[in-house]
Amino acid sequence: MSRALAKANANVALAKYWGKRDERLNLPYTGSISVTLDGLETHASVRPLDSGGDRIILSGVEAEPREAARISRFLDLTRAAGRQHTGAEVEISSNFPVAAGIASSASTFAALAVAAAAAYELRLSEHELSILARRGSGSACRSLFAGFAEWFVGQAPDGSDSYAAQLATPEHWQLGVVVAVTDPRPKAVGSREGMAQAVSRSPLFSAWVDTHKADLDDIRDGVRERDLARIGHAAEHNCLKMHAVSLAAQPPLIYWRPATLAVIERVRQLREEGVDAYFTIDAGPQVKVICPIAQRAAVAETLGAVSGVQRVLLSAPGPAPQLLEAS
Ligand code: PMV
Repeated sequence: MSRALAKANANVALAKYWGKRDERLNLPYTGSISVTLDGLETHASVRPLDSGGDRIILSGVEAEPREAARISRFLDLTRAAGRQHTGAEVEISSNFPVAAGIASSASTFAALAVAAAAAYELRLSEHELSILARRGSGSACRSLFAGFAEWFVGQAPDGSDSYAAQLATPEHWQLGVVVAVTDPRPKAVGSREGMAQAVSRSPLFSAWVDTHKADLDDIRDGVRERDLARIGHAAEHNCLKMHAVSLAAQPPLIYWRPATLAVIERVRQLREEGVDAYFTIDAGPQVKVICPIAQRAAVAETLGAVSGVQRVLLSAPGPAPQLLEAS
């Protein structure tokens, strides 16, 4: 056992995961496709201790008991696989707002899976690492891959066929991505609770599942063909359906802020002005916009000027996780 440090990038889903068919194993009702985001990174280090429980430090401070328990449960999976019992000191930090709908859980659990596997000396394939990361946070299974990734829905009750794989490399398509941050504070309702509400309390959930495959097919083909209009229209449609499911739940779940809608309107206006830009929104108020890389700076400047937008982050298809240290 040794200390290991890894980094992984966040991702944004173009065809989304929204609803678990198995809450314990994080098994989805639908497949999903994402772009790994360059520059939006989480570092995670795991140092096994000689005795005692886990000590979890998030962004430099001791984690709240609930967060600490979630990370300890995740480490337990690695420890069980490696027949290890000792606790660990874990430090996690991200260079972007966490728990605010920019998929910090994806980069966190992807980085943690890589670091924990190295620290507890588990030799896992990419595919096994993807399954491990999925147990921490579903979307994390996609952050194991550079560029574009697809998470297969799978059918097996044990989740052995529900993992992600690379769909296209970053070199295949340097798409521009702009993140418009409208509220950097942690969101009130996390994705676990949001999904549970969508599955059991929204009359639109079955329609979401039934119509999902068409969006997935469009986005997969659009990525392969580098067809921005095709993935853009399908991603907007998919995102609006996901939010419609939660808006229609009882009680309703509204992730948007006024500035979220203002950015949506500005993006639609940009298209009328001839700029190929399309929006998507995860479980939070931030808006992610895809556009040609040559227009990314201009799109960022336009969105940065929308009332209520606090900052903009520039991104593009990014790298796979990296093990930075293993001593
Ligand atoms: O991986 P989780 O449990 O944080 O869920 C992520 C859910 C969405 O970001 C809204 C969609 C997705 O596919 O990433």
